[in-house]
Amino acid sequence: MRARAAVLAEVKKPLEIWELEVDAPKEGEVLVRVVAAGVCHSDLHYIQGDLETPLPAIPGHEGAGVVEAVGPGVTRFRPGDPVVFVFRAFCGHCFYCLNGRPALCDFSNPIRRTGRMFDGTTRFHRNGTDVHHVLGVSCFAEYTVVPEQGLLSLPPDIPLDRAALVGCGVTTGVGAVLFAAGVRAGETVLVIGCGGVGLNVVQGAALVGAGPVIAADVVPQKLEWARQLGATHTIDPREQDVVEVVRELTGGRGADYAFEVIGRADTIQQAYAATRKGGTTVIVGLTPMGTTVPLDPLDLLRTEKTIKATLYGSANLPRDIPRLLELYRLGRLRLDELISRRLRLEEINDGFEAMLAGSVARSIVVF
Ligand code: APR
Ligand code: ZN
Ligand code: ZN
Repeated sequence: MRARAAVLAEVKKPLEIWELEVDAPKEGEVLVRVVAAGVCHSDLHYIQGDLETPLPAIPGHEGAGVVEAVGPGVTRFRPGDPVVFVFRAFCGHCFYCLNGRPALCDFSNPIRRTGRMFDGTTRFHRNGTDVHHVLGVSCFAEYTVVPEQGLLSLPPDIPLDRAALVGCGVTTGVGAVLFAAGVRAGETVLVIGCGGVGLNVVQGAALVGAGPVIAADVVPQKLEWARQLGATHTIDPREQDVVEVVRELTGGRGADYAFEVIGRADTIQQAYAATRKGGTTVIVGLTPMGTTVPLDPLDLLRTEKTIKATLYGSANLPRDIPRLLELYRLGRLRLDELISRRLRLEEINDGFEAMLAGSVARSIVVF
């Protein structure tokens, strides 16, 4: 079949809309009609070349859609099923999967590394040239083919644009609080970076009853959204010193948990500095490949801080994605408010520009 997709042909260039040939799903694969795809900063990392992936390729890893067709051997899905993509397809029976950590499963490493499916070929082509998969999802396309392990079923009553957000930003952000850090009521939280992911760290902290929840961002609108989602205090780092303000608000100690949700060495250091003795610094943002952050082991020892990182919110995806959707249904988790802008596929580069300009929480491509 033919489908339009946003293609990264060259790094540091806008995505191009190409009309592609999409192959039928092979053994164990599923053809999905994409309904909605969020514009996440990780896609921008590929565009800017901060993360590498074989090109040309179709990015997009936060999405939801409807199963169009299944390949031989697929048992868990049928045409018509609503599904959300998981950008870490997991086998379901290895050590990590059995221990509730599917995002650490090695199953989909070959697809991520080569941009090709397990048989070494791609399902996307243009004029005889292969177009690669990104993270085994590639949902900036009208139709995509993924391994069945890269999908989770959705309940029929959740709108697919809202469900798409749970495929990355919501689970990453809320999960960082609930599953990676395990923040409890009354604990103090700092969130540095209140974009699509950071706002979900803020709402996760509010959900568990943390306080104060201190949000820092260089864009005033982001701080306004952070307040709406439950931040009790906000800091614009251009006007105030983040570490000083956090100390003032926490009895001079620093935060129990400081989340870095940008992916920069300087803000990771800032999060560490703002963490109290015995507290935890949580790295959520993806740093460009090769980034290093100096570590003073003596300071770490004397302060007994913990530095941890979280991938995909450390979520047990098949258990936790339905849980998060249930919280949305109950009105405890906000998804509607996160979508600032809906775009057509042709407008996708505007979504990245808006992200860089700081004018959106999330933009979402609707097909
Ligand atoms: N201090 C505070 N906030 C900052 C700073 C800074 N020095 N620099 C940038 N920011 C803010 C931006 O204003 C923006 O609101 O960080 C936020 C980043 O948000 P987005 O660009 O929307 O990115 P998002 O999709 O939330 O992803 C954040 O998590 O999953 C990873 O790859 C992703 O590394 C990225 C990070
Ligand atoms: Zn993402
Ligand atoms: Zn596994």
